[in-house]
Amino acid sequence: MAGTYFHWFGDNIPATVRNGTAMYDVLIIGSGGAGMRAALEAAQNKGLKIAVMTKMVPTRSATTMAQGGINGAARVTDDKDSPEAHAFDTVKGADYLCDQDAVAYYAEKAAETLFELDYFGIAFNRQEDGRFHQRKMGGSSYARAAYSADISGHAVLHTMFEQCLKHDIDFISECQLLEIVADKGKLNGVVAIDMRSGNMLSVPAKSIIVATGGYGRAYWVRTSNPFSSTGDGIAACLNIGIPFKDPEMVQFHPTGLASNGVLMSESSRSEGAYLLNKNGERFMAKYAPKAMELGPRDLVCQSVEKEILEGRGIGEGLKAAVYLDFRHIPKERIMERLFQVYQLAKQFEGVDILEKPVPIRGTCHYSMGGIDVVDYKTCATKVPGVFAAGECSCVSIHGANRLGANSLSEVLVFGKTAGAGAAQYAKDTGYEGSKETLQAAVDRWNKKFDEATGRSSGSSVAAIRDKMAITMWNNAGIFRTEAGLQQALRDLDGLQEEYKNCFVGDTSRTCNTAFMNYVEIGNLLEISKGIVMGAIARKESRGSHSRPDFPKRDDQKFLQHTLISKEGGTFKTDYRPVVITNYKPVERKY
Ligand code: FUM
Repeated sequence: MAGTYFHWFGDNIPATVRNGTAMYDVLIIGSGGAGMRAALEAAQNKGLKIAVMTKMVPTRSATTMAQGGINGAARVTDDKDSPEAHAFDTVKGADYLCDQDAVAYYAEKAAETLFELDYFGIAFNRQEDGRFHQRKMGGSSYARAAYSADISGHAVLHTMFEQCLKHDIDFISECQLLEIVADKGKLNGVVAIDMRSGNMLSVPAKSIIVATGGYGRAYWVRTSNPFSSTGDGIAACLNIGIPFKDPEMVQFHPTGLASNGVLMSESSRSEGAYLLNKNGERFMAKYAPKAMELGPRDLVCQSVEKEILEGRGIGEGLKAAVYLDFRHIPKERIMERLFQVYQLAKQFEGVDILEKPVPIRGTCHYSMGGIDVVDYKTCATKVPGVFAAGECSCVSIHGANRLGANSLSEVLVFGKTAGAGAAQYAKDTGYEGSKETLQAAVDRWNKKFDEATGRSSGSSVAAIRDKMAITMWNNAGIFRTEAGLQQALRDLDGLQEEYKNCFVGDTSRTCNTAFMNYVEIGNLLEISKGIVMGAIARKESRGSHSRPDFPKRDDQKFLQHTLISKEGGTFKTDYRPVVITNYKPVERKY
């Protein structure tokens, strides 16, 4: 086990970080699939000092939310598939708002990734011949997703963690990122809070990889994401001048449980589950006559919502729903391939899917937008030494809509790419920062902690969070209009004012989760503002960004990435054309 530092029950932080003598070549923030794959790749460079910092513990990240499978044209189950077909499906699924050179790179490497995982020993479901089996997920032309029942993300995470433990990698657990400290184009390192003790830590690094996951909790009341998906890395990058690319492209997964938004994996439909309205009609026949329930998520989710809005759903308000029906699928198949789906429906909705259809509705699931990566072959951002990978990043391959099972291969392909890119940077450049600058940032955060936690009045963080989530769901959700988006912007401006003097409620340094939530909600308010500003400016409908007041896609004006940057505390919007190589944009038909 070389020099790996990780303890489940001991100190959560290596001594060198505690005593201020640490200096990392590659510091990775986030222990999901992208973060751990990056660490593993960086660790191929013997002698480099590598750490993974996480606000949870490894294996608990949002990677688990990608349940149905991992796409790669490995041609095990269907030999007609190819990386070119995978690339085309991805570009079409993205409604052409992706960079086609990056997509080609991804599709080529995604196929290799499945064999690599197999070699690492992942528990994939198998065919008769012993090779892994692939299933067809939404928007794919072929059976392309290798899978572990309906817990594929969980299996990927554990496989990555096992591999990391074989190398000399430090895990800095239960430490929340507060700031990436970079000034005048030079990276100093990061400031984080040790959640157990409340101590502020400064961690110097020659390079960092931001792999902090998405921002689904902006829609707190209705998301499949864990509580940790609060966009921390994107917010930290905005503060050092790195743009937030395509923030308005938020994915709503069609099948969240009606009562709480918990995911019913797309693998349900891959295994044959139907969508029914209250009249028992398989309504996808109207919206996607060929692909039916296996259309891309944007189309299926918007169809679900239309059925509800036009009165063919059941229930009221946030709990309105249509049905997902499994009753025609043999029990053995459900127990072998959809056992988590079976349990979740039973536990949260009280429905035995073998006997009754389960009520579902769209739920915020994934962030296509993220940290602006400017070189897909290294995952570099515009700030030297700062790299990004996984859901927090926008490389960009998902454009306006990600295909199911593309996220797991993305985190592994670009995690690996970022690990190599950051390691090379560290070897070539060395440390250019200043520990004094880092210490000044720590002093600032200590002051901020005392000031924020010391307030005795103000709106509660939870109240601000709930108002944010409601306005985001109602006004910047599955369908968006100018009036609704302007309302959301006004609401968010008001909430940001309230936030400045909000009541945190706990002054203690020990396990102060109230302070953590305060930081996270501050990040989500910034992220939400980015989503809404991007959505207001994009006066067209494309993929998951559906504007009934601008129902058509407008390639003349908007075949461009949105770039939101922060300048002197205010946001500004720019655009950058997408990269088109092989596939000329045409209307999507499914
Ligand atoms: O529905 C799902 O299993 C989700 C998969 C994904 O996000 O890739």
